[in-house]
Amino acid sequence: MAVRSIRRMGDPLLWARAQEVTDVSAANLGDLIGDMKDTMAALHGAGLAAPQIGVPLRVVIFGVRANPRYPHVPKVPETILVNPIVEPLGDEEEEGWEGCLSVPGLRGLVPRYRRVRYRGYDMEGGLIDREAEGFHARVVQHECDHLDGILYPTRIRDLRFFGYEAVLFPEGLAGEDA
Ligand code: NI
Repeated sequence: MAVRSIRRMGDPLLWARAQEVTDVSAANLGDLIGDMKDTMAALHGAGLAAPQIGVPLRVVIFGVRANPRYPHVPKVPETILVNPIVEPLGDEEEEGWEGCLSVPGLRGLVPRYRRVRYRGYDMEGGLIDREAEGFHARVVQHECDHLDGILYPTRIRDLRFFGYEAVLFPEGLAGEDA
């Protein structure tokens, strides 16, 4: 497995819809997910979508371990999702700060559904079907947006709340990119 380079905003691949995975048991899917895990770990990300490493397939990974340095960032289960579907539960939204490995150094205040249901397949083809809220729901929505060619800056309602992390959060409490 390997740490891969991250595509950054401006790359047309990040604005394209990714394709469904047709064979979950394909050996190269395991290689892809291994590379995604290595890349996310090396960059201390909260999540990563396959298009971010240049692979236009509907695969995302995410997960945040409890980190004593960032006690305000809640834990998110380590998850691999192939062909995910996300649907809102209710219409309640909340705004929260996001960063993205494909938009390095920046943060924006992004509205997301507060509660969602998400489904997808794990690497063995098993169904994952969960409800999530808050930060967990936010990470899932951010990652799945990547599969539809959506980067978080396009969702920011007020661009005054979009800027350089080091300026917005001089004390470095902004959390992780995804
Ligand atoms: Ni991202």
